[in-house]
Amino acid sequence: MPANRPSLPLNIVIVGASGDLARQKIAPALFALFCQGLLPERCQIIGFARSDYTDDSFRARLAETLTCRYRPGRNCRQLTQDFLARCFYCRGDYDARDAFLDVYQIMRRLEDGAGGGNRLFYMAVPPQVFQDVAQAIGGAGLVHCQGPRWSRVIVEKPFGKDRASSDRLVRDLRTIFTEEQTYRIDHYLGKEVIQNLLILRFANAVFEPLWNRRHIERVEIVWHEDIGMEGRGGYFDHYGIIRDVMQNHLLQILALTAMERPAKLDHAGAIRAAKVRLLRAVAPVRAGGLRLGQYGAARTSGRRRPGYLDEAQVAAGSLTPTYAAVRLRLRNPRWRGVPFDLEAGKGLHDRLTEIRIHFRRRPAAAFRFQTQPLPGNVLVIRVQPDEGIYLRVNNKVPGLAMALAPTMLDLRYADAFPRRPIPSAYECLLWEALEGDRSLFISEAELAAAWDIFTPALHALDRRPRRPLPYVFGSAGPQADAGG
Ligand code: BG6
Repeated sequence: MPANRPSLPLNIVIVGASGDLARQKIAPALFALFCQGLLPERCQIIGFARSDYTDDSFRARLAETLTCRYRPGRNCRQLTQDFLARCFYCRGDYDARDAFLDVYQIMRRLEDGAGGGNRLFYMAVPPQVFQDVAQAIGGAGLVHCQGPRWSRVIVEKPFGKDRASSDRLVRDLRTIFTEEQTYRIDHYLGKEVIQNLLILRFANAVFEPLWNRRHIERVEIVWHEDIGMEGRGGYFDHYGIIRDVMQNHLLQILALTAMERPAKLDHAGAIRAAKVRLLRAVAPVRAGGLRLGQYGAARTSGRRRPGYLDEAQVAAGSLTPTYAAVRLRLRNPRWRGVPFDLEAGKGLHDRLTEIRIHFRRRPAAAFRFQTQPLPGNVLVIRVQPDEGIYLRVNNKVPGLAMALAPTMLDLRYADAFPRRPIPSAYECLLWEALEGDRSLFISEAELAAAWDIFTPALHALDRRPRRPLPYVFGSAGPQADAGG
């Protein structure tokens, strides 16, 4: 348990507390922080939503997803009880100021006599209601504007559907919460390996001198999922894979992989500024440069796996892509001419997120005995599953004969850090938000720059929708020779 356990009272309000995000991600992450002693002694979690729950039934619902990863063993039951005793529920409409006055009554139990407390609002609701909720919270006077206690709001993507709608959301929310109070989540930034990108690049002398167009031939960022809609067809059909994954998660990975060294490595403003500069250097995508696909039904061992169009809440004949691949070009001296290939797809044959840095090959026939050109070195940064970093190097095969073979130097997290559980992305991001560190959250400028890359192509596709290439669920995606 950290020595400097925070002591100010803290109220965490989860708006949309009856939803999956709250149950599957936010509550387990808060519980993990609680188990590590990272929440203040005086802390309450107040769930707010329209559904009818009592404190007890809300606690019972949360209890289903809590696991004692950090303090397994006999006291798990006690820890769970202690945590749940701090959870309360308040029912109300999202735009009802009076309902948030009820929330205030619960907050007061902790804050009275303590000179107030800190407040974290988590918007686990669709973006269409962000503004109503913010107005109601503001109208109920729950946001500290100044003084020693802070108020912060966490919001989740999708932040709009294009640059203009994203700007509107930002403007609307700003009437209640300042930019400094706003924490925009891209949960990939909370993933362990993504956070390590900064360290890998700038805490090692070997990589940075090679990290440019002279030595790097191509960069791939791949994101595969082997599942379909899992009940999210209604949402996904309105957004598609580009808005769901590429415009946010993959561009954030790109920015951290390719940005210049930030002026200060431990300063949120400097890191975010370096990412913005990089994103602004990416040439906007044209619709013609996108390869789009949509998974269809599969038949394995006699069983039929539904295709995208069979998924619940997907419009009949929908042209929404579940797969996209694009080659990005960066217009700056470091990367001019180096392709950055992004690929994202659902319903594929594997679950994998990886960054692959392909280094330029050695000139042919560097060695006398060599008959083939040597394969190039590849640095593979495996985000998930099975986190790791691998470097493909050419190596002499042991023996009297002189033969070379490409071989992997590998750093599997599970082997290198066997006793270090990898925190969930949400655990890490909630902790950073409580600490007031915004390095892992998206600034307004980053959001705008990321939308500028895809907005022209998305608009062109909205105007003239294109039939995505079909691929079979569980395959490697659309056939490479199928055009598109
Ligand atoms: C979300 C997307 O942002 O990320 C989902 O909306 C996707 O479509 C999910 O499944 C993947 O997250 P993770 O952490 O499981 O890789």
